[in-house]
Amino acid sequence: MESILRDIVQRYIKESGSVVSILQDTQDRFGYIPHEAISYFSNELNIPESRFFGVATFYSQFYLKPRGKNIITACCGTACHVRGVDKTVSAVKRALELRPDEDTTDDNQFTLEKVACLGFCSIAPVVLVNGEVFGKAAAEKIVRKINSIRKSEDEE
Ligand code: FES
Repeated sequence: MESILRDIVQRYIKESGSVVSILQDTQDRFGYIPHEAISYFSNELNIPESRFFGVATFYSQFYLKPRGKNIITACCGTACHVRGVDKTVSAVKRALELRPDEDTTDDNQFTLEKVACLGFCSIAPVVLVNGEVFGKAAAEKIVRKINSIRKSEDEE
């Protein structure tokens, strides 16, 4: 890990990069931003860790924890809430055997995330599975999709 972080620091210094570009590079390399990386950058560049965390938590594209190979995105905006997305989320959590405080399965195959309105309110509740839009996303429909992903990955 350290050689990758050193490369990112060198590029930052040479190209007068920004904290955002360091975080983007880091996420591109690791899939998320490890805490150790932030500590390393903070020491090497004499920038407080709080600045990295401030930027990383401001932009929703940054992840401070590893994410699963498959991403399930549940819209929790008003229309989806009213149309029962909570029931779908509960069923997905059960199907993935996620504990209440977890969003990624132990095998890193699935991450369940909740977001604000995705802009498809007319077909609420809306859930994305790896970017594929499922409107009127009943729990059974999404759990079936999860099972089909698991099955196809088991066959690989
Ligand atoms: S509230 Fe879910 S798509 Fe708008």
